[in-house]
Amino acid sequence: MNITVIGTGYVGLVTGVSLSEMNHNVICMDIDKKKVEKMQQGISPIYEPGLEELMRKNIKLGRLQFTTQPDNAFKYADIVMIAVGTPQLPNGSANLSYVEEVAKSIGKYIRRDTVVVTKSTVPVGTNKYIKQIIDNNLVSNVKVKIASNPEFLREGSAIHDCLYGDRIVIGVEDNQTAEILEEMYKPFKTPIFKTDINSAEMIKYASNAFLATKISFINEVSNICEKINANVEDVAEGMGFDKRIGRAFLNAGIGYGGSCFPKDTNALVQIAGGVAHDFHLLKSVIEVNNNQQKVLVQKLLDRFDGNIVGKKIGVLGLAFKPGTDDIRDAASITIINYLLNEGAEIVTYDPIAMEKAKKVLSPKVIFANNLEEVIEDVEAILLVTEWEEFKIKGLKFYAEKMSSPIVFDGRNCFSLEEGNDLDIEYYSVGRSPIKKERFILNK
Ligand code: UDX
Repeated sequence: MNITVIGTGYVGLVTGVSLSEMNHNVICMDIDKKKVEKMQQGISPIYEPGLEELMRKNIKLGRLQFTTQPDNAFKYADIVMIAVGTPQLPNGSANLSYVEEVAKSIGKYIRRDTVVVTKSTVPVGTNKYIKQIIDNNLVSNVKVKIASNPEFLREGSAIHDCLYGDRIVIGVEDNQTAEILEEMYKPFKTPIFKTDINSAEMIKYASNAFLATKISFINEVSNICEKINANVEDVAEGMGFDKRIGRAFLNAGIGYGGSCFPKDTNALVQIAGGVAHDFHLLKSVIEVNNNQQKVLVQKLLDRFDGNIVGKKIGVLGLAFKPGTDDIRDAASITIINYLLNEGAEIVTYDPIAMEKAKKVLSPKVIFANNLEEVIEDVEAILLVTEWEEFKIKGLKFYAEKMSSPIVFDGRNCFSLEEGNDLDIEYYSVGRSPIKKERFILNK
């Protein structure tokens, strides 16, 4: 099939590349000329494991093209997929201006009957609005059908999630459109769930809001665990055996970040408000998450009697999670800004997210070349992103290499047993701190 994907962010590019891998002819369109030129050479604008290899392979096989030209992109398309951004407006609702522009352009340039699929996360009712805009701008005598097909991929494992997802959700108005999309997705061998358009749009928001709820729930539990000397890791493990609950997304930490959960939870609160429903539960989930980002900093302040002025603090990890260079709504940014406000000096390192972080962080922040450089002469470190290279050497490494081995671990990277015979102060989330008498006396 001939498929055009508009927008080459995470969702668009990964979708386009995956569809080409499944033997479809794919054109990815973006308005960013420089980005398109790079992609034509097989260079991915985003860091995503496995993506460039598949890009190069399918470009070579002639199944994957990139363009800025809408006439090229739309002329022969059987299916057009909208995957442009829907960033958050100041009031938390989704900004649909990019989607609207694309809809106008589709109306202007399509020359045959086409199914227009929305992959971008959009509020309920948007697909019908898109259809209206397309119809109002049509210049050819063609028929447009619309469908909603939300995306569930995670950054860092996007290709895998796209090729081997748990489900494909398609929201349609008629069976004929469903059949066309089923044909497109047939090679993926993933269960397809068909529903109406509004329900499909809601499935995406409700799924992300539910996962965010799981995270805030376990984070609240972790805060109680600390006060009653329980271990949140064991609590999550024990809960997870129950199939109705499941172990996934019960990792306590410093809150969720990234391009989806913060944006989509806020948007769903707005959507609910728009139909006069106060989504109390989700508002609390968001509030818990905002507080959780401060938990580690508070522990650090408590350890230094509320005063970290002039103290050199190391921050390990900037990406909102490992496997990506994305720093959108990353806890690291909030944490570093808190620390700077408290007068601390910050030295930080991330394997791949430093370039992006440099653009948003204060010039006062020192960017180190590696992990060793960070821990060299800081008074304490905060472990913010659980990159493998921070975990692989074990807690022993920090105990041996730091002149002041005080670790605040926001991701529970190490077991408490590891700290048993080490000269280290180790504070994690939802677990008892390790404070070695011997170590404290020596200080
Ligand atoms: C998420 C959804 O998982 C995906 O289905 C959707 O399409 C987009 O949003 P993503 O944002 O890439 O994907 O990352 P994810 O792995 O879900 O993690 C989101 C955030 O939650 C990260 O900051 C992560 O550190 C945090 N998290 C995740 C926890 O704090 N605890 C957990 O148990 C899981």
